[in-house]
Amino acid sequence: MDLNNNKSNNVVKTLARWCLLLQAFMISSNTVALKEPDYVNMNITIRNSMTGLIRPEIVYRCQSKRKDYGWHRSPKPGVQFSFPIILIKGETKIPAIHICQIRSVLGTATLVIQNTYLDAEMCPRSSCAHEATPKGIVFRGLEWDFKTVFPKLKPVEYLELPWTPWPNRT
Ligand SMILES: *[C@@H]1O[C@H](CO)[C@@H](O)[C@H](O)[C@H]1NC(C)=O
Repeated sequence: MDLNNNKSNNVVKTLARWCLLLQAFMISSNTVALKEPDYVNMNITIRNSMTGLIRPEIVYRCQSKRKDYGWHRSPKPGVQFSFPIILIKGETKIPAIHICQIRSVLGTATLVIQNTYLDAEMCPRSSCAHEATPKGIVFRGLEWDFKTVFPKLKPVEYLELPWTPWPNRT
């Protein structure tokens, strides 16, 4: 066995690896520099669905880290409030977070809404909403159904958050 030859072989191999690494690094830094993120818009909708109550009014305030959308009042069922948000296309791991405080005669609810661009795809034209109902905050919208050969959007509805009752005042 020729030990020297083996050694130089290893050096060549190491060099080749470094070149590959360097190349990969250059390609990836190029794409980062060239690629501007694409943005998508969607609306977050808070809807009053407090049916069957003498006092159906709700008030709410939504905030993100950077923006406060202020207090809004929704006096009766059917009245809703939508605000536009911007999401980064392709980004699924870092959601946009909005916190909405909602108050009604039945109590309070602090809803944490996390959205990625996939929600914008699933909820075209404000088709998804967070509804204040007598049970609590219900999400009503669309979700991909992968059970069929061609995935299609099917309606979904689930309780996101029950009301935290007001403390009893005696
Ligand atoms: C959001 O809502 C506004 C007003 O209701 C509407 O004009 C706009 O098209 C909506 N945007 C999206 C992305 O659904």
